[in-house]
Amino acid sequence: MNVPEFLWQQLLDLKQDVENNIFNKLDIGYNIQQGFFDAQNGTTLSYHFHSSLEANRITNGAIQEILKQKLYLSAASTADKTITQSLKLYVPLAIASLLIHSTPFVITHQAQSIDGKIATNGGSSKWIGNHANLVHAHRIRALVDAVLVGTNTVLNDSPRLNVRHVKGKNPIRVVLSNSIQDFSMLPVVDNMQTFLLRAETNQWQGDTNVINKTIYYKDDFPKTRMRNILLELKQNGIQSILIEGGSKTISSFLDENCVDWMQLHIAPLLFGSGIPCVSLGNITEVNESRRLNNVFFTQLDEAVMITGEPT
Ligand SMILES: NC(=O)c1ccc[n+]([C@@H]2O[C@H](COP(=O)([O-])OP(=O)(O)OC[C@H]3O[C@@H](n4cnc5c(N)ncnc54)[C@H](OP(=O)(O)O)[C@@H]3O)[C@@H](O)[C@H]2O)c1
Repeated sequence: MNVPEFLWQQLLDLKQDVENNIFNKLDIGYNIQQGFFDAQNGTTLSYHFHSSLEANRITNGAIQEILKQKLYLSAASTADKTITQSLKLYVPLAIASLLIHSTPFVITHQAQSIDGKIATNGGSSKWIGNHANLVHAHRIRALVDAVLVGTNTVLNDSPRLNVRHVKGKNPIRVVLSNSIQDFSMLPVVDNMQTFLLRAETNQWQGDTNVINKTIYYKDDFPKTRMRNILLELKQNGIQSILIEGGSKTISSFLDENCVDWMQLHIAPLLFGSGIPCVSLGNITEVNESRRLNNVFFTQLDEAVMITGEPT
């Protein structure tokens, strides 16, 4: 999906404006309309935010709080589909810090095969997603405050998690690991901080060459562990976070209903074996399954991406 450069710049500006508190929350629709679209001289864009009930609403839970304040996104029928899709995908991330929640806005993003695998049995996952997905993943990174991965992803992928394919600031890299002691496999990245998340019973601090800060979370109640982690991150100024993987980490957040948006890039590949995108508890009936609500699809070249809110 080719997000026009001018629109991308406006999305980055929107995030910055939100961070700088230039919006009056109760009047956000009006203000975004002014700041977001009026700069488009010479374009025929007819998108705007407003408070009309007749608009094509973004009805996802991620911006429910804002919907309560009557913010709607509308698009004229003549509107370009790429622009509509870009706004639907990225505006909730750009404005996430306006959400009045005690925990950050959480989006998960994974690239999987048609049969639901995010890596081979040997842990190889580069590259299940196509180039368009890579660019999209970097757009998410540029719009969120932090990107989190678990131990096995660190060990397998040595991920940088910075923004390289689009314009934008690097998020904070967050590593969730109780077992890694030597982080030399993690590349040091310019203009990027790395936080380590550890259970408070595990006081080993981590390699300070790579780790800028260690945040301890309460691990006494396994069923609130991920929520505790998110509360700590919010306390540390993180308002939105992308969980990039792997399977165990995302499953833990899903288990505790901590995911606002789940996003899966489905590549036209079949593995037949490998690491599943998530592993949740056993179910016997279809109606016990977790469902995504308010789903929408985005075509990324020959692949499709599904976005929805896990129930
Ligand atoms: N296709 C994709 O989009 C994609 C994206 C990312 C990763 N991957 C692939 O996914 C694979 C790794 O996935 P994975 O499921 O094996 O491991 P993972 O989720 O990357 O890491 C799991 C580990 O994280 C640590 N952790 C700490 N607290 C946790 C908690 N509350 N819940 C879950 N984990 C916690 C644990 O290690 P400690 O004992 O150290 O605490 C746990 O064993 C790699 O092969 C990677 O390439 C694919």
